[in-house]
Amino acid sequence: MNQVDFHNRAAVITGGATGIGLAIAQTLGGATDARVVDVSDAARVGAAAIETASGLGRIDALVCSAGITGPNTTTWEYPVDAWRHVIDVNLNGVFYCNHAIVPLMLKRDYGRIVNIASVAGKEGNPNAPAYSASKAGVIGLTKSLGKELAKTGIRVNCITPAAVRTAIFDQMTPAHIEFMLSKIPLGRFGHVEEIAALVAWLCTEDCSFSTGAVFDLSGGRATY
Ligand SMILES: NC(=O)c1ccc[n+]([C@@H]2O[C@H](COP(=O)([O-])OP(=O)(O)OC[C@H]3O[C@@H](n4cnc5c(N)ncnc54)[C@H](O)[C@@H]3O)[C@@H](O)[C@H]2O)c1
Repeated sequence: MNQVDFHNRAAVITGGATGIGLAIAQTLGGATDARVVDVSDAARVGAAAIETASGLGRIDALVCSAGITGPNTTTWEYPVDAWRHVIDVNLNGVFYCNHAIVPLMLKRDYGRIVNIASVAGKEGNPNAPAYSASKAGVIGLTKSLGKELAKTGIRVNCITPAAVRTAIFDQMTPAHIEFMLSKIPLGRFGHVEEIAALVAWLCTEDCSFSTGAVFDLSGGRATY
């Protein structure tokens, strides 16, 4: 893999212990300072952001990778509590992290934010309504924030991967996994390294003229 220039930079990666978040952490490299923070707890996220910024002296990049799928069932059979939980983690959690860290980046007039959405947020996967809605929300939030910060040194983008085999598959039904694979023209799942390569670049200074943008990583599923 080509190396990205993240020398002397510091990143906050939610969901960095596993899967896509871990691969991003490994690609960016450097020392790690791990914390257990529930991203759906706004107060805890705010406190952790301040602790991290004072500990590291800087936050150059934020990657919001923490997420869950919720049950695979139809909208009308979807448990209301499960709906709220998915929105709390996948959408509100991304908002809380962006909300807490943007002011810290504004102080230095520099930052790169990458929110991990999903092709489900573009297309709407059947039997994943809360997940699809939460990821569509992440896309909308990214577009708004990107424009709000366009005159600053902060760039805000999101990615929309198709299925990548990680522990998150344990939360899905086999039929849903098969459905996701059937929609990918490349005929295979993505690899975490393929996701990490693009996200790592989006975290660098080289990503200077893209903001509020939605980057495809779907093996040809979404051609827009
Ligand atoms: N794997 C895929 O097929 C796929 C496709 C598109 C998008 N995504 C998105 O990529 C991101 C990473 O998923 P992954 O595939 O690496 O799965 P994963 O299960 O390995 O990673 C998700 C991480 O989020 C953390 N997390 C869950 N709830 C949390 C909470 N309330 N607070 C803090 N952390 C929490 C988990 O501990 C885990 O480390 C997710 O947002 C997911 O929706 C994944």
